[in-house]
Amino acid sequence: MSEFQLEMLYTPGDIESAIARLAREIRRDYRNKNPVLLGVLKGCFVFMADLVRALDIPLETEFVSLSSYGPRRTQSKGTIEVFQGLRKPVRGRHVIVVEDIVDTGITVDFAIRYLRRRRPATLRVCALFDKTARRRVDVPIDYLGYKVPDCFLVGYGLDYDERFRYLPGLYCLKEDG
Ligand code: IMP
Ligand code: MG
Repeated sequence: MSEFQLEMLYTPGDIESAIARLAREIRRDYRNKNPVLLGVLKGCFVFMADLVRALDIPLETEFVSLSSYGPRRTQSKGTIEVFQGLRKPVRGRHVIVVEDIVDTGITVDFAIRYLRRRRPATLRVCALFDKTARRRVDVPIDYLGYKVPDCFLVGYGLDYDERFRYLPGLYCLKEDG
């Protein structure tokens, strides 16, 4: 079994400050709008949990499960599968898509098109990390935590083949040898 080196990029404290800033921005724009935070699983679950508590305004949460990765892949296939779609209508609602990281942009682009067909009143995107170097589709990110380098990242909900999601910080994964 091959081993990995983990290089820390952001401490749990760095992530907490980014989320506090995002929460201030979103709170300012969505107070009294009862927004729907729409998380894209699985990667978003840690971020979503911290973000909703930092926001501290009335809101609702929904999740969709999308995946562009097969097992043991660090590259997007470029096609998206909907494992679990929306369970409730979002027509007329203020929807914020919550993503852990935007890489090629294909997933967020898909999510935006998927949601637009359901006629929300407004639709914005919040992502904790943005890997700009690998962008293939131009997507708007209205609320962003950090820009990150072109490196495979794990921790804080992000996985490599389901590993490392539990780590509280963000790490760059480097394969040994
Ligand atoms: P995209 O469609 O290429 O933008 O990739 C979006 C999804 O791939 C993200 O929501 C993540 O779940 C996953 N992903 C992208 N980059 C990384 C990474 O560096 N580590 C772990 N997962 C990633
Ligand atoms: Mg994701």
